[in-house]
Amino acid sequence: MTEQVRITATENGPLSVKGPITIVDQDSNQYDLGGRKRVALCRCGGSTTKPFCDGTHSRIGFQAAERAVAEADAHAEQRAS
Ligand code: FES
Repeated sequence: MTEQVRITATENGPLSVKGPITIVDQDSNQYDLGGRKRVALCRCGGSTTKPFCDGTHSRIGFQAAERAVAEADAHAEQRAS
């Protein structure tokens, strides 16, 4: 069975990517991941080590409130059950 890549949008933080991954730049040069199977990719725009997260999101108060299912929908489903 092929191992799947899983990407998790962390709360107010980076995209956590887990699995057999390769990351390349615009010229198809491969980033050295040092054999890691989990990396954190910046989505706040503030990292000085893009595309990787360097923790800047915490210092700048990055907020990413989106969810896979809208909160209003989740609450409506809870009330209906
Ligand atoms: S998400 Fe962590 S530095 Fe941008």
